[in-house]
Amino acid sequence: MNAIVKAPGQQDGSKAATLIVDNKQITMPVRSGTIGPDVVDIGKVYANSGVFTYDPGFTSTANCSSKITYIDGDEGVLLYRGYPIEQLAEKSSHIEVCHLLLNGELPNQKQFDEFRSVITRHTMVHEQMTRFFSGFRRDAHPMAIMCGSVGALSAFYHDSTDIHDPVQRMIASHRMIAKMPTLAAMAFKYSIGQPFIYPSNALDYTSNFLQMCFAVPCEPYNVDPVLSRALDRIFILHADHEQNASTSTVRLAGSSGANPFACIAAGIACLWGPAHGGANEAALKMLMEIGDKKNIPAFVARAKDKNSGQRLMGFGHRVYKNYDPRAKVMQQTCREVLAKLGVNDPLLETAMELEQIALHDDYFIEKKLYPNVDFYSGIVLRALGFPTSMFTVLFAVARTVGWIAQWKEMIEDPEQKIGRPRQLYVGAPKRDYTDVAKRA
Ligand code: SDX
Repeated sequence: MNAIVKAPGQQDGSKAATLIVDNKQITMPVRSGTIGPDVVDIGKVYANSGVFTYDPGFTSTANCSSKITYIDGDEGVLLYRGYPIEQLAEKSSHIEVCHLLLNGELPNQKQFDEFRSVITRHTMVHEQMTRFFSGFRRDAHPMAIMCGSVGALSAFYHDSTDIHDPVQRMIASHRMIAKMPTLAAMAFKYSIGQPFIYPSNALDYTSNFLQMCFAVPCEPYNVDPVLSRALDRIFILHADHEQNASTSTVRLAGSSGANPFACIAAGIACLWGPAHGGANEAALKMLMEIGDKKNIPAFVARAKDKNSGQRLMGFGHRVYKNYDPRAKVMQQTCREVLAKLGVNDPLLETAMELEQIALHDDYFIEKKLYPNVDFYSGIVLRALGFPTSMFTVLFAVARTVGWIAQWKEMIEDPEQKIGRPRQLYVGAPKRDYTDVAKRA
């Protein structure tokens, strides 16, 4: 088969690409976005040529159009609704970023006050939810508890599961953003055998989460504003990231018409993997395994050896072929938190030495592997008092707004239909059944 793709300009000024398959010419529209690469619309390729396109892992394939987040991986740029992540991390708050991602614009003061009030008043969960937790073993991984408890929300909130009702979609979005910190804190408390702490409507979003995690009924708990601000900034950094694996999972689940709570539970399950959101937990365990800086060269050698099965966790990214802009902010936040706490964590020195060695090593340079958002986050989260098992849960809390904003955008997209990829079949050709007595 002979297949050639060309992209000549069309007479009407529109752009098109041509695929020639077995001397049959198929013209495909080329679409341009606001910024970033054009896309070749291959939606009619199979109907017009009888061949599928093939792209495991979607390395060159866009599965949707979106207005929410933009990444320029070569330049290390990340924009939420057009605003650079560095500016939002410095000047905004997670709850304001939630409004931005969900509604498309930064809120004016009235809108902001209303949004915060709505979210605050959705932070409690149905009291019967607490019974779910008692069914888990105390040593259950908090991400396992989150998968179960978030999926169970659809058993309680029937009045916001009709995905075709825009009012119910918005209520479900508010409920998810509001209740994730509460469920995450409950998962943490359950794992350490302490009583659940109710949300406090007197506190801001992230301070409320910290008090639900670290307060105990026996004494007052005062949230440290510096630490709350640091965690709030970490939430901003993790809020959304285009069509990453867990967001694509949420979109695919939502494309069948599944309710939003079930879709977010699917996203949590996908995020748990060590290649994705589970990398923050894996990266800290890697730094702890390396321990002293003198062990770094041997570890880097293993990370470069395919047969070792060991990767440099917190390094590399499918899109960023430059420094992840979030990692820069995260490293700065790490220094601030450790300084505020008066903690001299040798793992930070190990991480920075490892970063320098890797960034000057030909293997990492040639493959364009840089630190990503997960490389430093574990050091900060541990300093804030969270066990490694909670790191990916915190990522899920932050990413909930991105998941739900992308889910809502997908439901409201007139182009959306159920996602159903095709395949290249390489299995057995058609053959007849044989009785067991006649088999070898
Ligand atoms: C997140 O998609 C997102 O946006 C995700 C995320 C988000 O906000 O949602 O940014 C969050 O998931 C960040 C990534 C966290 N994961 C890790 O830190 C785990 C370690 N990194 C990887 O395993 C890897 O880099 C990925 C999964 C992140 C990206 O994998 P790709 O794009 O599929 O690249 P690849 O596995 O094909 O690797 C390309 C080459 C390979 O070598 P060759 O086969 O070409 O010889 O680079 C090598 C890999 O072996 N490589 C690494 C490496 N990452 C890639 N070698 C050593 N250490 C690494 N970390």
